[in-house]
Amino acid sequence: MIALEQVTDDPGRLRRAFGCFPSGVTAVCAMLEDQPIGMAASSFTSVSVEPPLVSVCFQTASATWPRLRTAPRLGISVLAEDHDEICMSLSRRSADRFADIAWDHAPEGAVFVHGATAWLDCSVHSEVPAGDHTVALLEINCLQADPDAAPLVFHGSRFRRLAAI
Ligand SMILES: Cc1cc2nc3c(=O)[nH]c(=O)nc-3n(C[C@H](O)[C@H](O)[C@H](O)COP(=O)(O)O)c2cc1C
Repeated sequence: MIALEQVTDDPGRLRRAFGCFPSGVTAVCAMLEDQPIGMAASSFTSVSVEPPLVSVCFQTASATWPRLRTAPRLGISVLAEDHDEICMSLSRRSADRFADIAWDHAPEGAVFVHGATAWLDCSVHSEVPAGDHTVALLEINCLQADPDAAPLVFHGSRFRRLAAI
């Protein structure tokens, strides 16, 4: 007999269950008023090839997403295995998130982190309210990717690296 626990009793239990699913980590960043803004996001998922779509879930409490969504272009950097400190910088509430980060921007304003395994230059396609998050569908305009570069992995609230087999 399998004994399951009610999800409503303990939100921490739900978060720990979500944390069983390993993911990569992205930086979603753009130029706004001549300054880079952005945040770390592990909820990135590929969605569609035709049209080219990805999704990212943003907390409704996020102060950064309402500003990011007004930018004409968003840069998504898929973080590399040595980007754990960059990820933490991009999740801090205060201070200049970009102070210790090597970054650049495309002419239309998408901001990219140096050394990422992939760069996607995106526009907001649509948004879907989803509980305490907003699911943003982002359309890819152009990209660069290195599938052989090792990614940062997030699992069980910890950063991990892929083992070579
Ligand atoms: C590894 C990691 C993954 C994260 N993933 C997300 C995410 O997918 N969506 C999200 O809204 N916030 C995510 N965050 C939190 C944001 O990076 C940021 O801390 C939060 O949005 C608060 O800042 P803000 O109010 O400026 O948005 C993540 C943080 C870390 C460290």
